[in-house]
Amino acid sequence: MKNEQYNIPDRNSALKLLESVNLAPSIIQHSIQVANKALEIADKLKNIRIDRKLIEIGGLLHDIGRSKSHGFDHGLIGASILKMEGISPKIFRICETHILGGIDKDEAKELGLPKKNYLPYTIEEKIICLADKYIKGINKVSINERFDHWFSKYGESDILNRAKKRIIEIQKEIEEILN
Ligand SMILES: [Fe+2]
Repeated sequence: MKNEQYNIPDRNSALKLLESVNLAPSIIQHSIQVANKALEIADKLKNIRIDRKLIEIGGLLHDIGRSKSHGFDHGLIGASILKMEGISPKIFRICETHILGGIDKDEAKELGLPKKNYLPYTIEEKIICLADKYIKGINKVSINERFDHWFSKYGESDILNRAKKRIIEIQKEIEEILN
């Protein structure tokens, strides 16, 4: 019997799934870059246990919801696509928590999402959320460049400022593991 808790597809099946939902090729390329960046971060963290497969496949699937929406709801939509596919909650939680620096309950309400926490808690969730901020499209950027782009596009909103703070916290936490 298939145990959903551990149903993490292999790389080829994950890429096929992205194609089957008609995710734009540019977003598939972005997802491959995010998975690579996330693995690069994970491989430096030798002192803690990290599920490398979860990092790779979570990175590939984190934006699957962008096949339906490019809004803040794409994390949640991605999670529901993966739920329907019977894929592990560990993966769909990566979808839910990769947006900005994660979204808390009050921000969720403000953004029109169902009111719950979408904050990254596990090391795998944090690494994907961070790796995603380092890749804009398929280009590598710094956290400052990433947020400056958002600030100029959407204005320096409280939500964006809090997101930047959270990402810097995740960055610090990971650097501390490295030392
Ligand atoms: Fe995304």
